[in-house]
Amino acid sequence: MYTQAMDTMGKDEMRQPAVRSADELQLEARFNERIDAGEFIEAKDWMPEHYRKTLVRQISQHAHSEIVGMLPEGNWISRAPTLKRKAILLAKVQDEGGHGLYLYAAAETLGTSRDQMFDALHTGRAKYSSIFNYPTLSWADMGTIGWLVDGAAIMNQVPICRCSYAPYARAMIRICREESFHQRQGFEALLTMMTKGTPAQKAMVQDAVNRWWWPSIMMFGPPDDQSPNSAQSMRWGIKKFSNDELRQKFVDAAVDQAKVLGVTLPDPELKWNEARQSNDFGAIDWAEFWAVIAGDGPCNKERLAARVKAWDDGAWVREAATAHARKHAMKEAA
Ligand SMILES: [Fe+2]
Ligand SMILES: [Fe+2]
Repeated sequence: MYTQAMDTMGKDEMRQPAVRSADELQLEARFNERIDAGEFIEAKDWMPEHYRKTLVRQISQHAHSEIVGMLPEGNWISRAPTLKRKAILLAKVQDEGGHGLYLYAAAETLGTSRDQMFDALHTGRAKYSSIFNYPTLSWADMGTIGWLVDGAAIMNQVPICRCSYAPYARAMIRICREESFHQRQGFEALLTMMTKGTPAQKAMVQDAVNRWWWPSIMMFGPPDDQSPNSAQSMRWGIKKFSNDELRQKFVDAAVDQAKVLGVTLPDPELKWNEARQSNDFGAIDWAEFWAVIAGDGPCNKERLAARVKAWDDGAWVREAATAHARKHAMKEAA
């Protein structure tokens, strides 16, 4: 997520101004025409305040998810089993940091500063993808995260490459290319363990899949009937498919991939439905999803504390860079 999925919005954002001027109504009509014609909106273009706020929320949540998402995998860099796996994991975690930066930059074009976004994250006001609040217990979790979590991210994110806000769409094109590498390296790591590994390594893969499967399909967000802001996001071309549509596509793809790997997905109700030409699957534990979103997941406190510590530890770098810029400006002026 990574995320079109978290449709949570503050009360202030929901409120539309009661009275709008004739000029504003005209601008809004023109904006809607452009959206209907499939045109991209650039940062300098007029846009409704509600559209701007929706994008700031979604893009910043997405950026936070990328950098918080570095933590569960970063945990395994020093313990990767071979130099090759270490190099791949290091590159992947670094990519996620880059994704965060592209996305913070895209959100900044909407008039929100990076400091404001960080402050929202560090004070717990901003959300990030629920998936990163689960612990990484074994090496097989690295492969499973690549396969399922990056796989779900791709399913979510490919449609955003065509979203109506151009700076976000452009960032997503670069990000999706890298996500596809992330997914493949995860699948390949699992396939190696499942085809050449010991019985203990195969059991480790199955255990990781058992733990990550349900949180991965929760990544698509609440069911459509509990996703009140979806209709507006679709109307604006920010969102192209509903949460449930994307979740179904992901489940169908994962079922085939699980067969190739030789792992079982931990859902006894998962079965092919000939009439729907899709897989039926069991009920998702939404109480768990909402608890994790609200801050009560297994690692929420640890993740937030790690981000706050990184920010505090970096204070001297920010101060030094500011002092250097000031000195440089003074020299130029002289
Ligand atoms: Fe990413
Ligand atoms: Fe990724």
